[in-house]
Amino acid sequence: MADHAILAGKRVLLVIAGGIAAYKSLDLIRRLRERGVTVRAVLTEAGARFVTPLSVQALTEDTVYRDLWSLTDESEMGHIRLSREADLLVVAPATANLLARMAAGMADDLAATVLLATDKPVLVAPAMNVRMWQHAATQANMALLESRGVRRVGPNEGVMACNEYGPGRMAEPMEIIDAIAALFAEDAHRPLAGLPLTGRHAVVTSGPTHEPIDPVRYIANRSSGKQGHAIAAALAKLGAAVTLVSGPTRLPDPAGCSVVHIETAREMLAACEAALPADIAVCAAAVADWRVDGASDRKLKKDGGGPPTLALTENPDILATLSRPGERRPTLVVGFAAETGDVLAYATAKRARKGCDWIVANDVSPGTGTFGGSDNTVHLIRADGTESWPTMPKDAVADRLAEAVAEHFAGK
Ligand code: CTP
Repeated sequence: MADHAILAGKRVLLVIAGGIAAYKSLDLIRRLRERGVTVRAVLTEAGARFVTPLSVQALTEDTVYRDLWSLTDESEMGHIRLSREADLLVVAPATANLLARMAAGMADDLAATVLLATDKPVLVAPAMNVRMWQHAATQANMALLESRGVRRVGPNEGVMACNEYGPGRMAEPMEIIDAIAALFAEDAHRPLAGLPLTGRHAVVTSGPTHEPIDPVRYIANRSSGKQGHAIAAALAKLGAAVTLVSGPTRLPDPAGCSVVHIETAREMLAACEAALPADIAVCAAAVADWRVDGASDRKLKKDGGGPPTLALTENPDILATLSRPGERRPTLVVGFAAETGDVLAYATAKRARKGCDWIVANDVSPGTGTFGGSDNTVHLIRADGTESWPTMPKDAVADRLAEAVAEHFAGK
């Protein structure tokens, strides 16, 4: 469990939208207050159908803010002040509808208005039906919000109120509190300005992709995500706003990054494109080159007819797509080349073929221990030549790469 001492004395503005999970927000208020947090609540019209304003008022011991047009509230506290007199805005539950309105920058009720007017960090705890969460529209809205710095906790997987199973359940109050504490802890450690990549946005891909064969089986690879996650963290340390698009890994989300979790190559591409514009793209993911053509939506059974034949089809190349010339191309695109022989020759050819600016080439032959290991031996290939770096921990490779990126932008 995270250290909650940092919460004492903090002010949270809690936006409660209309979802069945709203009852958990009452518990969230109670637990936050137990930890010394002042909680002020905004209840949407739909939210008030799930919890009563009276319960919220009793638990916060404050007015419940509901109406954008309430003259009393406006004279006592305008929506700008409401959103600024908090250290953090928490949206729990965050419904598909409210996420969509936030993504579109709407200000059509008090909740949306304070979220638009705020200059404070925003944490959302999505809660909705599985299909609504998985819908491309919601995923795109969430990715957009995360690319703008909105933080997310959950949703968790489980049985839903509608009896369907999957991701969509709101994170538990204690998980939300852990996320809030982590966010404040990060802020306390982050120097504010003057870092070389402050004001730059970086998109980093990391980890493997999982390509489904059927609902229970998939094609994957041995990538651990260590190198990509370390690069995301290193760029964030130098002040960049980082969107990390990660395949399934066992790693925790790195500090200071907005993380978009995806499974397939196609989802990874969509999340990267949704995160644009960016100044920097680093493609460190081990993207599956192929996926199963027409993956089955039912589990394949042994029916006596022998093993199934899996027809494969090519996945989109994310690095090549991001490198394509055009208005949305990041200024600096960096790719990786995992090779098992003739490393420099293959990697140099790969740089030209993919159209990226730099290639970080590494030898992943069996015996080097690179895949899944902690160390990496890399060569940085640029238009003007190649630098070979000594073997070092992946964190150190990440720091050195981030410094090279910062130097590149220092001249601009
Ligand atoms: N990459 C990508 N999308 C893909 C495949 C690869 O973005 N569908 C990116 C990787 O993240 C990496 C670079 O491309 O930055 C090189 O990947 P690699 O697998 O080494 O190269 P391939 O394109 O698969 O070429 P080859 O099969 O010749 O190794």
